[in-house]
Amino acid sequence: MAGGFVSQTPGVRNYNYKLTPKVFVTCFIGAFGGLIFGYDLGISGGVTSMEPFLEEFFPYVHKKMKSAHENEYCRFNSQLLTLFTSSLYVAALVSSLFASTITRVFGRKWSMFLGGFTFFIGSAFNGFAQNFAMLLIGRILLGFGVGFANQSVPVYLSEMAPPNLRGAFNNGFQVAIIFGIVVATIINYFTAQMKGNIGWRISLGLACVPSVMIMIGALVLPDTPNSLIERGYTEEAKEMLQSIRGTTEVEEEFQDLVDASEESKQVKHPWKNILLPRYRPQLIMTCFIPFFQQLTGINVITFYAPVLFQTLGFGSKASLLSAMVTGIIELLCTFVSVFTVDRFGRRVLFLQGGIQMLISQIAIGAMIGVKFGVAGTGNIGKSDANLIVALICIYVAGFAWSWGPLGWLVPSEISPLEIRSAAQAINVAVNMFFTFLVAQLFLTMLCHMKFGLFFFFACFVFIMTIFIYLMLPETKNVPIEEMNRVWKAHWFWGKFIPDEAVSKGAAEMQQKSV
Ligand code: BGC
Repeated sequence: MAGGFVSQTPGVRNYNYKLTPKVFVTCFIGAFGGLIFGYDLGISGGVTSMEPFLEEFFPYVHKKMKSAHENEYCRFNSQLLTLFTSSLYVAALVSSLFASTITRVFGRKWSMFLGGFTFFIGSAFNGFAQNFAMLLIGRILLGFGVGFANQSVPVYLSEMAPPNLRGAFNNGFQVAIIFGIVVATIINYFTAQMKGNIGWRISLGLACVPSVMIMIGALVLPDTPNSLIERGYTEEAKEMLQSIRGTTEVEEEFQDLVDASEESKQVKHPWKNILLPRYRPQLIMTCFIPFFQQLTGINVITFYAPVLFQTLGFGSKASLLSAMVTGIIELLCTFVSVFTVDRFGRRVLFLQGGIQMLISQIAIGAMIGVKFGVAGTGNIGKSDANLIVALICIYVAGFAWSWGPLGWLVPSEISPLEIRSAAQAINVAVNMFFTFLVAQLFLTMLCHMKFGLFFFFACFVFIMTIFIYLMLPETKNVPIEEMNRVWKAHWFWGKFIPDEAVSKGAAEMQQKSV
């Protein structure tokens, strides 16, 4: 039987903690880390469709956009323009690799702080940009910030949260990302109406606000018990655990954390070790989940919704407005995941969301194909355009309660401490690499593959849904340091996990129950 069907893994302990105000506030602030990523994701698409911005930095694209004879699919195709959007993700990729060491050695909060700080400088470069070089340097600094934050925040949230509510807490990161996107689109909507260069400057410069929030947040946040133990502060870790769990009865969980840390100390090289067969499930998942998340095609909507809507014949203002609507729907639907992920589990959401995205993508591709054909000329009526927007919303909703939040949650909760920082770095790096690739290639792909592009992403959604069905066991409610049992119980991954990786805890449990 596919191990994916296993919903309750035998031998897994179930700590039942109540929600304490301290853990709630801490994770709320921690989730701010998602704001900088979200703000940036949301701002680029709108800015790159603002005429004064294009005129200033990309006159060639501006001229082409104005040309009435251009093929609809190719109106915005420019490598330089996409480089503006995608450069950030290359920088984030590089920095996430350094961030893993900082997160491990200095704790999760200092990684977050550094993320906020570099993002702040980047926003100043962008807001005051006088030439393309300044724009690019700014983007790279923003990217460093995103890499640090994305590496540390999901791990922080997963470690702080009580195991039975880990999904909901971790999803706070995605809520913050989408909140950042929505705020950015609203800002763009207003700044796009300003005359001259002031509009895009405000849009890009305001990135300093979320960066200040994360810096202040990081300064006031405590470090996670797991990280404190990892760095030798055992007593402080116990006190921290007691205070976030709201009880002095944390002995079992504390012991698990200490054991996990002892084990991880034997592992000197997380990067080398993650390649060992016993970590194969984590390695494969931390590579494939972010890869698949990006291959859902979501960022085609995130970055280029305004451009896409203009391609569909909407005016510039209507395009920004529609992008705002898709953002708000994504935000609302992410809460579906917050409230269900620990009850129904990760697999149900992944599978349901996947099927919903698949159907809507096929429908979008078919409609655009019928209306614009291969030549990319033609007009789309108002009601058809509205129908496409509705289909896009259905697609976005599916992503919002599945691959969006789970793409960050699952990789951050499946790895034992000894490889956690490295695994999360791989997760961020792969995510950023494919974010970069999609951002860089989308406009060219749209130009060449036309409506077939939607079928292209639909194929991947089909493959990833099957992948989850067969390969991902359920991880809801499983204490993070007990995850090995879940892998051991899986039909495929079980053979990679040595018996001793789970037997110690099982023996202890047996003793306790006698
Ligand atoms: C993804 C981003 C995406 C965002 C909003 C995140 O989980 O990693 O690539 O832009 O969700 O849809």
